[in-house]
Amino acid sequence: MTMTRKIRKAVLPVAGLGTRFLPATKAVPKEMLTVVDKPVVQYVVEEAMAAGIEHFVFVTGRNKTVIEDHFDIQVELEATLRERGKTVELKSLEDMLPKAGATSFTRQQAPLGLGHAVWCARDIVGDEPFALLLPDMVMRDKVGCLSGMVELYNKVGGNIVAVSECDPELAHKYGIVGKGEELDGGFRITGMVEKPAKGTAPSNFYINGRYILQPKIFEILSKQERGAGNEIQVTDAMLKLADEQPFSAYAFGGQTYDCGSKEGFILANVAFALDREDIKPLVADGLRHLIAGA
Ligand code: UTP
Repeated sequence: MTMTRKIRKAVLPVAGLGTRFLPATKAVPKEMLTVVDKPVVQYVVEEAMAAGIEHFVFVTGRNKTVIEDHFDIQVELEATLRERGKTVELKSLEDMLPKAGATSFTRQQAPLGLGHAVWCARDIVGDEPFALLLPDMVMRDKVGCLSGMVELYNKVGGNIVAVSECDPELAHKYGIVGKGEELDGGFRITGMVEKPAKGTAPSNFYINGRYILQPKIFEILSKQERGAGNEIQVTDAMLKLADEQPFSAYAFGGQTYDCGSKEGFILANVAFALDREDIKPLVADGLRHLIAGA
């Protein structure tokens, strides 16, 4: 068995501008838009908690203090709920809260790209492997995506990216990996390419927004090299890291919703609503009528 260090910390970059969701994201961060009755970022924190993450590092920007408030106690609200005997609501607030001292917030200062946001977490993460979760990607499965990745990581070590399958016609929109030797739960990666030209993608497995990375990535990111869109890209840094360390893919079997896009966000709302026994009947009925009349 490979010796691996426990994944204790997760980095959640929430400093993007969310331009695809304007005007909704003018004053509200896109990570706080709600899927059914929870903000998008809460789904991702819960996925990380289920995978054993002990510390959450949020890389924030302007307008994001509301995320910090969301993961804090709201004394007045909780006192009122207690007074009114609203125990279910009270418990829902308690269950989602990371422990005191288990969150850190650092500012990216300027949205120079995802790679730069990750690099901003370097001092808080320190010299240990960590999970990186893009909070606008929401996963739906019985086993959380990060839990499956941690299981694979405990067997093979190194660096892990989670992948989902896309329509081969759409591969040019994603970061695509090349498929090598099969592993139990995934495969070795032979290469990674960001937005391959049409017809050149090595597979239809795309990087879906969940990573387990070794701390060496910070050293590579510290060179601040600009890539596509003149932004500091995490994929470029991973390509360099892959020259010296193994990368494996965790084949995620559930659904991935890109809640940073309108279509993904709407589909996530529908899918999670249909998972909820309390609202499913009315939502399903309403959807059937809408589709029949479309
Ligand atoms: P996106 O490219 O999806 O986010 O980055 P964006 O820039 O907010 O969205 P659009 O394209 O303008 O609508 C993926 C993740 O990386 C974070 C975002 O917050 C998002 O969670 N990010 C991106 C940063 O934290 N900093 C950046 O400089 C860029």
